[in-house]
Amino acid sequence: MTALPTRLSNDEVMSRLAAGKFVEGPQHASEDYVEALKRTLIVSADTELISAPSYLGAAPSAPDTSSYMSVLSIIQDEVGHAHIAYRMLRDLGVDTDELVYGRQPHEYKHPYAFDVPLESWSEMIVANAFYDRAGFVLLSDVFTHTTYAPWKRALVKVDREETFHLRHGERWIAKLSKDPDAKRKIQDAVDWMFILTLEWFGLPDELKRHTGQNTFKLKGQTNDELRQTWMSATVPFCESHDIEVPAHLDSETGTYVIDCAFPMAFDAEAKEWDHAGGQISWDQVMERWRNRGPANQRFVRQLQRGHAQLVGAGS
Ligand SMILES: [Fe+2]
Ligand SMILES: [Fe+2]
Repeated sequence: MTALPTRLSNDEVMSRLAAGKFVEGPQHASEDYVEALKRTLIVSADTELISAPSYLGAAPSAPDTSSYMSVLSIIQDEVGHAHIAYRMLRDLGVDTDELVYGRQPHEYKHPYAFDVPLESWSEMIVANAFYDRAGFVLLSDVFTHTTYAPWKRALVKVDREETFHLRHGERWIAKLSKDPDAKRKIQDAVDWMFILTLEWFGLPDELKRHTGQNTFKLKGQTNDELRQTWMSATVPFCESHDIEVPAHLDSETGTYVIDCAFPMAFDAEAKEWDHAGGQISWDQVMERWRNRGPANQRFVRQLQRGHAQLVGAGS
């Protein structure tokens, strides 16, 4: 990786930001700022990209051609979002070919949830309602608070498209939850996917290591605040369709309370949480994340296959 020259010290960046000025590139940044920005962008780019093979796996379960086409159009958006984030990394001097095609599957930085394959239409639409909502919450926060101007500009388009994705999921859930059989399948998907999305937002604030993301105002809300924002949309939505979720609003504090052990052990093959086993430590969760989930190899290799064939054909 060739790092582009940064010009400022951390103190100079902080006073630039305190004056309300944006960062347009490394010339307005310090090394620490650029490193924190790269880490944030890699997570975002990987998440967008891995959603493509994940959603593609579920697309054949679409009930009709028009729904199938809607999922394909969502996938096209996600690849576009990934391209935007990798392009910004390239502008920061990162070798993005190496990043996309050279890493091992376990080195990808997307949330663990995407390593668990979506295998039915119910799981596909709950992914749109939950995962795309999580993406929307995270990126809206970046859009509102980031000091990195190129990202802020790019997110105008991304946010609109994420709204389309999550509405696609919500519309389908609203429609299918009127039918008892279809509703039972949605509830089964919600039972494993709700808690997995809670995990998506990462360690609780009291355990989170300092990453520079908040210091340099690359994002605004903390992990716990983002988790609350996600629940404040998702819990009332599910309740309005009589779908049970393990969380409720505490009217006294105005915050959402998780009603199950959290974090918890997860059997990714069976897609089941170990409610009987109760709460585990975040160290144990991070070990599961590090080992990655059942579809990790397959999805990353799927993304890398064409490039590997091209390189192989040229040699
Ligand atoms: Fe996206
Ligand atoms: Fe999306």
